Amino acid sequence: MFNISSTAMKILITGYSGFIGSYLLKRLNQTEHKLVMVDLTNGTDIFDWQQVKHFEGFDVIIHLANLSFVLASYEQPKRFYETNYLSTLNMLELCRLNQAKMIYFSSYMYGHPQYQPIDENHPIQAYNPYSQTKVICESLCEGYNRDFKVPITIFRQFNIYGKGQNPDFLIPSIIQQARNGKIVIKDDRPKRDYIHVEDIVGAIVTAVESDSNATTMKKYLEPSLTIHDLAAKMKMPAHQLSKVINKEFRCNFFEFINKYRIEDFKQRAFSTDY
Ligand SMILES: NC(=O)c1ccc[n+]([C@@H]2O[C@H](COP(=O)([O-])OP(=O)(O)OC[C@H]3O[C@@H](n4cnc5c(N)ncnc54)[C@H](O)[C@@H]3O)[C@@H](O)[C@H]2O)c1
Repeated sequence: MFNISSTAMKILITGYSGFIGSYLLKRLNQTEHKLVMVDLTNGTDIFDWQQVKHFEGFDVIIHLANLSFVLASYEQPKRFYETNYLSTLNMLELCRLNQAKMIYFSSYMYGHPQYQPIDENHPIQAYNPYSQTKVICESLCEGYNRDFKVPITIFRQFNIYGKGQNPDFLIPSIIQQARNGKIVIKDDRPKRDYIHVEDIVGAIVTAVESDSNATTMKKYLEPSLTIHDLAAKMKMPAHQLSKVINKEFRCNFFEFINKYRIEDFKQRAFSTDY
């Protein structure tokens, strides 16, 4: 059980202009906490120690600024390794110097699962350059926790969705294709849990305000869904997905999922009765 702190804190947020960061900012702006925001978009490269070493006096760092698109990590592995490793190292070092807590955004890192549902005890297995960077960054976090007692919370969320997501990700890409009248899905077998970005943001705020030094948090959502599952739940072949999205959601899938959120998503989004 977390103890929730009511004291206003000073929070450093990296990657605040990104998908999750923009939702987080909206939520934290409704609290008493003081925010310090850094992102490439406001001219700070947290990869560069000289640009961040002067930040001080904060209680928590929420570190979102990593590179994350898997396909790009195959094209530019060096950039991914350098950015994710050095930005995380710099933020951990700031936590050590400021006796602050670190909240790190990792990802799915279990490869092909050996059992389901997956829990934190499941063996870790990187399966692409991006997930390998996350394994390395988690290891850095563990080192700073073990050797310098930096309190760390790590999120290993799977697929996040919500309005404003980069169009290269699965759900926005399906919607975009539906708008263009035809959906082509390269592989409908990969299975993922889906969580709405506002639910993740709620979990981050809980972690920020808790006195817990928990090392890993994971949000469970059962069951996971494949694209094939999605189509099956709509009782039709995957290639007709576009038709269903057009008919049932009138091409407004984002509004639909934002309205019902994940609790109702499974029951309603994929039912032809809706
Ligand atoms: N979105 C998802 O589905 C998802 C799933 C699992 C994990 N994650 C992780 O969550 C975190 C945030 O994801 P997101 O979807 O909001 O990412 P995003 O790409 O939308 O945002 C990342 C932000 O970080 C900033 N940034 C990148 N490199 C920087 C640098 N060197 N210095 C300063 N700022 C820099 C970018 O400008 C951008 O605003 C990432 O660590 C990502 O790996 C995301």
